[in-house]
Amino acid sequence: MSNIVVVGTQWGDEGKGKIVDFLAAQADVVARFQGGSNAGHTVVADGHKFALHLLPSGILYPGCTCIIGNDVVLDPKVLLQEIEELAAQGKSADGLRISDRAHLVMPWHRLLDGLQERLKGAAKVGTTGRGIGPCYASAADRVGIRVCSWLDRDTFAAELQTALAYYNRILVGAFGAEPLEYQPIFDEYCGYADRLRQYVTDTCVLANEVVRSGKKVLFEGAQAAMLDLSHGTYPFVTSSHPIAGAVCVGLGIGPKCIDKVVGVVKAYTTRVGEGAFPTELKDATGDRIREIAHEYGATTGRPRRCGWFDACVVRYAALLNGLDCLAITRLDILDDFPEVKICTAYRHNGQILKGFPASMKVLSEVEPVYETLPGWMAPTSDIKQYDQLPANCRRYVERIAELTGARIGIVSVGPERDRTIVCEPMF
Ligand code: GDP
Ligand code: IMO
Ligand code: MG
Repeated sequence: MSNIVVVGTQWGDEGKGKIVDFLAAQADVVARFQGGSNAGHTVVADGHKFALHLLPSGILYPGCTCIIGNDVVLDPKVLLQEIEELAAQGKSADGLRISDRAHLVMPWHRLLDGLQERLKGAAKVGTTGRGIGPCYASAADRVGIRVCSWLDRDTFAAELQTALAYYNRILVGAFGAEPLEYQPIFDEYCGYADRLRQYVTDTCVLANEVVRSGKKVLFEGAQAAMLDLSHGTYPFVTSSHPIAGAVCVGLGIGPKCIDKVVGVVKAYTTRVGEGAFPTELKDATGDRIREIAHEYGATTGRPRRCGWFDACVVRYAALLNGLDCLAITRLDILDDFPEVKICTAYRHNGQILKGFPASMKVLSEVEPVYETLPGWMAPTSDIKQYDQLPANCRRYVERIAELTGARIGIVSVGPERDRTIVCEPMF
């Protein structure tokens, strides 16, 4: 088992950063294959907290190669800021490699993200405002600017002219906004290019070399299955594919290179942004989870909506990803709840639904069918062995595994590296 995919199984913020950083101690390479700076992956290491948006969560290990793949949308300003913040903490980004085929997030993408949301009004998605959707749309519309063009001044000048002419018509004509000026963008982005050029390479060649040479590789998903553009709770989704199947397209490797798929899952459910959320707790219990767990977004600071564990969501994610096992995080957050609930099915118009509903109308109308389990009412954060967890806690974890059809791989009981219980060897 040398190539492992780590993906989110709910609506994001499951603790992918913590799990990838933990596993990266044994890995040679960590590669991001989708998403952009909408991700906020928190890593707690050496007494510091790092909020990573574009840098893969292996960056804190000096010997680890960290790839930003072709299907990641790259905001060079955000990336440089992250590299600087890392340097301020005495960490280097020397292991970073950026795909020459990645698309750039440009100023018009960020502007359009906000303008489109405003236009949608009550129907807004609740995006992170990082320009992610408009950047992926540019790529599909074939008006995007890729890293390889950006690094060549003349090509960049020509492509910027074309793209800006196109987007200024949209900004001014469709939204009544001010047009953007060419020269400041050209100068700003040429400055970024000079500072990031050293990291750029053909990451498809690199990724194929590392997976074939038997090196240990982690593919780090951002966002999660329910935010998948094709399979998630559309239209309240992101614009990429945060599922295991996207690893191949997002890095340019074949499907046989994947040995294991690990789904990161929070012991309860959260969602940030708009959209149906069947197990949401709009009461004191939901507020209590938010406060105990500090459920506020790592990218936007927004309060996260909180609710009970939804096995329908994770069962669907297990299907979409072909999950082998789960990494269950934040179990410690539930330490002081006398009872805990798991949604095992959705009822709609008196019928138990089979499968996960495609329609947001249906998903917003379903009634969760709950199973109530006794809480464990004991601290778990210092426990190092699975069999030392309180019996009711194990019962909860095992019920989650049973309902979702995936094995328990890892149980996490705190944000730090040493608060991680490994139940199944990963590499
Ligand atoms: P990601 O986007 O999936 O990487 O998750 P985020 O970093 O956005 O949010 C997860 C939060 O939970 C971060 O603040 C982590 O430090 C924290 N975290 C991860 N695992 C655990 C855990 O087992 N227990 C606790 N208490 N916090 C955790
Ligand atoms: P990580 O990797 C949680 C959500 C946004 C919004 C929707 C679309 O930290 O788990 P976008 O800016 O992508 O167009 O927003 O997706 N979203 C996330 N929610 N965690 C994330 O990333 C997210 N990235 C995007 O809140 O609902
Ligand atoms: Mg996050």
